[in-house]
Amino acid sequence: MRVALLILLGVVIGIVGTVNVMNALRARNPMPEAVMTTMDYHMGELRNAIKAKQCNAPAIAHHLQRVRSTASDILPVFHIDEKPFTEAATQLQDRLQQALQAAPTTCATLVAAIKPIGETCKSCHQDYR
Ligand code: HEC
Repeated sequence: MRVALLILLGVVIGIVGTVNVMNALRARNPMPEAVMTTMDYHMGELRNAIKAKQCNAPAIAHHLQRVRSTASDILPVFHIDEKPFTEAATQLQDRLQQALQAAPTTCATLVAAIKPIGETCKSCHQDYR
């Protein structure tokens, strides 16, 4: 009985220790996740606006600008020096620029403007996430 309890204790300490180490490793560089989460939030706000049929130009411009400025952190933060990755990051920037220039003022134009952006998020995730 005592041996079994000691083994159980050992296992519990092992699990707690592993979780702590993994958390510490993640916390060491929170930036990649932070960049992605920030972009995700603003893309989500745009999708919510479409769902609620409340698309107003200043809010749209704000969220698109936030995604664009955050997207410019992808390359310096991820340190992935592979062509498909850098190309996807550049394509994202280009498409965000185009969406900002299109300056959507209605839900219909917003849907059209963010479609290519969502496709770039998706295609990079298929290769790298
Ligand atoms: C150039 C490649 C690339 C592009 C473009 C890209 N992502 Fe990511 N994304 C990644 C990688 C790599 C991960 C995995 C990061 C990790 O786990 O550290 C990721 C992870 C995520 C995650 C999960 C974050 C977490 O909690 O771990 C979200 C959400 C996300 N991306 C949203 C987006 C959105 C929204 C876009 C488009 C606006 C986008 N991403 C564009 C490469 C990309």
